[in-house]
Amino acid sequence: MSRKAIRGTFVDFIDDPWTHVGHEQDAARFFADGLLVIEDGIITAFGAYAELSGTYRDVETIEIRDRLILPGFIDGHIHVPQTRILGAYGEQLLPWLKKWVFPEERKYRDRGYAKEGVSHFFDNLLASGTTTCQAFTTSTAVCAEEVFEEAARRNMRVITGITGIDRNAPEWFTISPGDFYTESTELIRKYHGVGRNLYAITPRFAFGASEELLDACRRLKTEHPDLWVHTHISENPAEIRGVAAMFGDCPDYLAVYEKFGLVGPKFTGGHGVWLTDDEFRRLSAAGAAVTFCAGSNLYLGSGLFRLGRATDPQHRVLMTMGTDVGGGNRFSLLNTLEEAYKVGMLNSTVLDGSIDPRQQDLAESERNKLSPYRAFYSITKGGAEALYLDQLVGSFDAGKEADFVVLDWNGGPPATAWHMSLLVEDGGPQDIATAAELLFGIMMVGDDRAVDETWVMGERAYKKASSEKASS
Ligand code: GUN
Ligand code: ZN
Repeated sequence: MSRKAIRGTFVDFIDDPWTHVGHEQDAARFFADGLLVIEDGIITAFGAYAELSGTYRDVETIEIRDRLILPGFIDGHIHVPQTRILGAYGEQLLPWLKKWVFPEERKYRDRGYAKEGVSHFFDNLLASGTTTCQAFTTSTAVCAEEVFEEAARRNMRVITGITGIDRNAPEWFTISPGDFYTESTELIRKYHGVGRNLYAITPRFAFGASEELLDACRRLKTEHPDLWVHTHISENPAEIRGVAAMFGDCPDYLAVYEKFGLVGPKFTGGHGVWLTDDEFRRLSAAGAAVTFCAGSNLYLGSGLFRLGRATDPQHRVLMTMGTDVGGGNRFSLLNTLEEAYKVGMLNSTVLDGSIDPRQQDLAESERNKLSPYRAFYSITKGGAEALYLDQLVGSFDAGKEADFVVLDWNGGPPATAWHMSLLVEDGGPQDIATAAELLFGIMMVGDDRAVDETWVMGERAYKKASSEKASS
């Protein structure tokens, strides 16, 4: 048995900050001097050093000073085979897919290329502090296999699957519903629940799916009810118009997935920019999740996700944050939080009535404000809850897998350290309010250079190079 302890300053969450309006700190847990005890990769104790140190006196203890330690970040929506095509110029979703995405993803039919791409992908995740992801692959089993194999080598928790498309794409890119069903079944048998690997039935999006493909998804879900379902929903106006034309019997986008029995716990729809109030309500009632891909929604010009609507306490929708690489142009969820904050502020202005009093909804306006509590909850415990992984990851509760990130609040552009010195004295934060201010500084002034170390199952998997030359 391997046993160790980490001593340092810890922040995690015990509740949803949106349910603590005005006193969000009640949703957080903070130890200025804390101890995290880990046995064989699993957390066995967590608390104040002063309280636990007696019991664990003999355990090898690693001290991490002048850092904030948080649960590893959870990316609810990311595309492995788009690792190389970040930052493509000038297109909205549908022409962007055609021009950039399909040709690049096609290369992942070649196992050598897939291995190389997948390795870059995981290097980038770890350098961003992301320890869990729900990922799209592409329409060949090769890519999904390589993701499962590489995740297992790195002992990382992933949810992924063959990403099916058989409409509105070149013939060389599609997969038939029959092959999708057979190849998915084989991968489920081989990888689902093996180590930390989990399988998601993954129709790419309704705009790229025939009734037969969605029926194959339904069949897979019926045969394996414990599987995840991962897709896109209501991202872009042209896409949504296309779906309405293809599925004339469905009153809205969500209804397509409902028709095929896919919407329930463990369903995640990415983007949801143009979801109606009624669709939000149905997602909430079903226990299904939506992913706020803030950077991508801005990058591809898709629109402004209604954060305050998704977090309506009457109809709260489970929510993950997603980078959506390469629709999003950064791997870092810290950057996603930065973009999400700005989207929230814009929504908040619209809803405070100052533009048009008829649009005023002060409660929804407030819910759009992405405080550091709301932000970091969403990429840790909140993300885990939305993915139904909260028994496994997302906080420092005993029994969970010891994935965590070590943040240096001074890491970032030159402006960062002097800014942070406004907030904290030598010795680091002594209370949750100061820690939260530092976290806000990290997401708004700093960047991914704040990620100093990333730990997976109690082992350090990433350490920032002291020179900035390292590349991946
Ligand atoms: N919808 C279908 N495929 C994709 C994709 O690769 N990226 C994004 N952002 N949306 C999609
Ligand atoms: Zn996507």
